[in-house]
Amino acid sequence: TSEQKLKNKRILITAGGTQEAIDPVRLIVNRSSGKMGYALAKAAQQQGAQVTLVSTVPALPVPTGVEVIYVQSAQEMRQAVLKTYPQVDAVIMAAAVADYRVKNPAPTKIKKHSETLTLELVKNPDILKELGAQKEQQVLVGFAAETHDLQHYAQQKLIQKNLDLLVANDVSRKDIGFGSNDNEVILFQPEQAPILVAKADKAAIAQQILAVLASKLS
Ligand code: C5P
Repeated sequence: TSEQKLKNKRILITAGGTQEAIDPVRLIVNRSSGKMGYALAKAAQQQGAQVTLVSTVPALPVPTGVEVIYVQSAQEMRQAVLKTYPQVDAVIMAAAVADYRVKNPAPTKIKKHSETLTLELVKNPDILKELGAQKEQQVLVGFAAETHDLQHYAQQKLIQKNLDLLVANDVSRKDIGFGSNDNEVILFQPEQAPILVAKADKAAIAQQILAVLASKLS
């Protein structure tokens, strides 16, 4: 559409799953493809926004006119996001950030000597929670991928992370979500009844999410 509902709005979007080093050749990863974040970046740019995309997926084509910053780990993503945060009107944290990272990544390749190998993990910073705690003008949008008790966890995250919108999806369903071109989500907002966005391709889902975001930005 030619509608410019996000004209001149500055929006930061994260996409993909973070990668946490075990040693120089191995990573802890997750099933996020980055497609939802890229669909949001493309749609926001088309609606007139100035989009900065913080991405872990260099293989996906960058939508025209979108500025991209590539990162790998949660700590790198945190640095990039915090640097851009003061200048933006909204943040959409679509990335799947690893909750834990390897405490001491090995400087050289781990060899297969012992029968068992234990990795010690430490908690990563919760980037979105940090953004929520220092929120000023920004509208904050989070994602939640759940396999059970979706509504309960979604409401909890909305409040605990001080969000304006939480997009929740049920990742136990094979036909939507991770890696898929389609999604079906529920939008949670403070003091409002949840809104079901019925199954559609990620471009269409992005339009609906951005429509809600635009109403909060004007
Ligand atoms: O708590 P949970 O990981 O389910 O929250 C998901 C939301 O929080 C997503 O928007 C994700 O990008 C963000 N998040 C984050 N930093 C973390 C974990 C999640 O920003 N360490």
